[in-house]
Amino acid sequence: MDQIIVRGNGPLNGEIPIAGAKNACLTLMPATLLTDQPLTLTNAPRLSDIRTMTELLRSLGAEVASLQDGQVLALSSHDLNNHTADYDIVRKMRASILVLGPMLARDGHAVVSLPGGCAIGARPVDLHLKALEAMGAELDLRDGYVHAKAPAGGLKGAVIDFPLVSVGATENALMAATLARGTTVIRNAAREPEIVDLAHCLRRMGAQIEGEGTSTITVEGVRALGGATHPVVTDRIELGTYMLAPAICGGEVECLGGRIDLLAAFCEKLDAAGVSVTETDRGLKVSRKNGKVRAVDVVTEPFPGFPTDLQAQMMALLCTAEGTSVLEEKIFENRFMHAPELTRMGARIEVHGGHATVHGVSRLRGAPVMATDLRASVSLILAGLAAEGETIVSRVYHLDRGYEKVVRKLRGVGAQIERIKETPAHD
Ligand code: EPZ
Repeated sequence: MDQIIVRGNGPLNGEIPIAGAKNACLTLMPATLLTDQPLTLTNAPRLSDIRTMTELLRSLGAEVASLQDGQVLALSSHDLNNHTADYDIVRKMRASILVLGPMLARDGHAVVSLPGGCAIGARPVDLHLKALEAMGAELDLRDGYVHAKAPAGGLKGAVIDFPLVSVGATENALMAATLARGTTVIRNAAREPEIVDLAHCLRRMGAQIEGEGTSTITVEGVRALGGATHPVVTDRIELGTYMLAPAICGGEVECLGGRIDLLAAFCEKLDAAGVSVTETDRGLKVSRKNGKVRAVDVVTEPFPGFPTDLQAQMMALLCTAEGTSVLEEKIFENRFMHAPELTRMGARIEVHGGHATVHGVSRLRGAPVMATDLRASVSLILAGLAAEGETIVSRVYHLDRGYEKVVRKLRGVGAQIERIKETPAHD
């Protein structure tokens, strides 16, 4: 397993290109299962999660060609020859559950392994299953798999009332509804930009959808969907992550392709903390307003609230802010695993249940730390950029799931960072 070594090296200056959104691409790719026509995705990110989704779709018989160094994905599900998403692949990536709705909608049957939990929480899929049952699916849970069958005439439109906002369940229901007979109304739908991007792509394929980006999405089912070419929306989480680099280190960085509308709540928090964000014709320019960063309180919420996927990174900033900040994690039950690692770097953090209280310190000190999950891994790198001395982050395979070319992008703005093969642990 590789390690990343970071040395605090003062202010960062320059520009960082932002890639296409992992969490949009992971729902756009299964959309190929809704049609026998070709689907082409451009601006695709080069990430291990995308390679895992490619492996899964190919295991079902779909063709997935990765072109232009992985930035273009040409998908076709003309000849699906397997309708079972195997545990060996699903356990690597929870988003695999997103093949269930499309396969059920087009071919009337699917067998998908239950994803199981992950480091940040139990992450059940009960809402995905309830939505599909509302559309007439018969589901049988056995041997760790969901065995799903649609009624003889196919799924039927339904009113789906989600008791809590779920990005993935909204995506599964939305994709299934495009081919269901009649009208589907999804209430308390997730409003994330990745949902909006999926709806835009499905509409290009011939779907009839209204209300994406609001809490109520209405879908008129159609008999069949066609192909399309669709650009993956900018990754707002990668964007927010790199916006924090000049916030933590000082200097000025322009994040190319960034848009404020993708991260309004996050940008408001940065402003309150003393970090200025300016829209340019190429993206977002970020710098500290006048030296110090001030403590702010953060509560994670579904979009348009503060994104849970930026909570760990924001905590890294607040570790060296003036004053005390309280972060409340309301989406996942165990998403503070970066706190003990930041504490090893001299941060003062008290975690009680879903709350983390951060007392700012003047400077963090580099230390060997361990990545525990995708977003925690990058928060440790951000902390290392500002820390005195050397930080060695191990288990960086977590990072590769969601961030392409981290070392190159950060070196491009003056960071002292390198990736090395991990030395085997001494017995
Ligand atoms: C998506 O996960 C993202 N992943 C996550 O990003 C993100 O943190 C999350 O949405 C919230 O924004 C992808 O898009 C691939 P949810 P998802 O369903 O869809 C509970 C990252 O770092 N829930 O919105 O799995 C669930 O336990 C990842 O890129 C149920 O109870 O999230 C959680 O507490 C991490 N039953 C809450 O809802 C269900 O059936 C929100 O989960 C589904 C979810």
